[in-house]
Amino acid sequence: MKTIIEPFRIKTVEPITMTTPEERERYLREASFNTFLIKARHVLIDLLTDSGTGAMSAEQWAGIMRADESYAGAESFFRFESKLQEITGFAHILPTHQGRASERILFELVGGEGKVVPNNTHFDTTLANIEHSGARAVNLPVAEGKNPRSQYPFKGNMDVEGLERLIAEVGAKNIPVVMVTVTNNSGGGQPVSLENLRAVRRVCDRHGLPLFLDACRFAENAYFIKLREEGQQDRSVRDIVRDMFDLADGATISAKKDGIVNMGGVLLMRDETLFQRATNLLILTEGYITYGGLSGRDLEAMAQGFEEVLHEDYLQYRIRSTAYLGERLVRMGVQIIEPPGGHAIYVDAGAFCPHIPAEQFPGQSVVCGLYREGGIRACEIGSVMFGKHAKPAMELVRLAIPRRVYTQSHIDYVLEVFESLFAKRNTLRGMRIVEEPPALRHFTAKFAEI
Ligand code: F0G
Repeated sequence: MKTIIEPFRIKTVEPITMTTPEERERYLREASFNTFLIKARHVLIDLLTDSGTGAMSAEQWAGIMRADESYAGAESFFRFESKLQEITGFAHILPTHQGRASERILFELVGGEGKVVPNNTHFDTTLANIEHSGARAVNLPVAEGKNPRSQYPFKGNMDVEGLERLIAEVGAKNIPVVMVTVTNNSGGGQPVSLENLRAVRRVCDRHGLPLFLDACRFAENAYFIKLREEGQQDRSVRDIVRDMFDLADGATISAKKDGIVNMGGVLLMRDETLFQRATNLLILTEGYITYGGLSGRDLEAMAQGFEEVLHEDYLQYRIRSTAYLGERLVRMGVQIIEPPGGHAIYVDAGAFCPHIPAEQFPGQSVVCGLYREGGIRACEIGSVMFGKHAKPAMELVRLAIPRRVYTQSHIDYVLEVFESLFAKRNTLRGMRIVEEPPALRHFTAKFAEI
């Protein structure tokens, strides 16, 4: 059959609220044109993030009922640990409350003044945790990753020559760890190839450096490898995932993405000494090693979620349904970062409203336009988010797709809203910031229309 369907049926439903244009105008103004400040119940289709917003399965909810809430040695921990050992091959598995907790522990151990940590592109919490430790974070994406129209299949790859140059410049002894983010979220949700991971590994071996993955979306990355990398088509996603982890010495994971849970994270490593030190920090701030700041039920949901995310009918639907949104936007004339990524579509807001200069936040105008037009919530990734430090390369709006939550007709509705907004894009107005906090201003800044 040609149609790729949602490989599940719906057992529990949650109503979403249709609002009138007048109500949306009022909510938008009450939120000072910042959609982070709008109540979720006033949003019809919420594409703010794919993080922690997935729908859990009947088996995950059953695990939640069965969970063992013992403080130490809970059965739920052992199920979680053995599932992650089976998938990744890592000996040491620590639960944390979310991805940034794993990052905080890792960089408290290996970061510090004078240290430099390269990545294809650091996610903002990774960057913030590295800088918080006193170290410097460096992004090394490949050139293709910076060109939104390039159809290169692995635009998430790391610039391996750039990595060599960085090592020569700052010295291997100042690089505690090399990181690669799969998929590259800040670079458009684009995948990293096995070939690139192997090349990075070879450089790390030559200089005696450990390689860590930021593996939040490891299953989506592996599915792209299966679809696009030569010689991988007949292999199972499970085997490809194992190849990815086999190349690394450790990983940080936010389970809120490919763990398909609402809360949870993992810190994985091979090194015994580093693990002992991480354990001490975990106990200090997260919780005892067999729960790490989570409940037994969260560990059960993760153990099952990490299994389900590897089912290939799920991944086929996941990657295909994101591409469906991207392909139709392109057909409509909306420019996006191509080819479509795994968890989100990134719309080029600069091209959507060329009459609005970067200083007037075209991404924020599109975000407000989508809410006004159809109650859709998206996220600006451009001068509002990053412009305080340096002018970002692009003004983007991210449409992140929660896992197993919306059906094709919801996405068709999003496309209709886009069509209508696109037709009147000349009427979108620039914005100015009237109030902002000292850091991470996109969450709470207040805007006015120009
Ligand atoms: N690394 C990547 C690549 C991420 O995308 C995220 C979160 C994190 C680390 C941090 O994980 O939120 O569990 O602490 N990304 C979310 C997003 C917030 O919307 O892209 P966390």
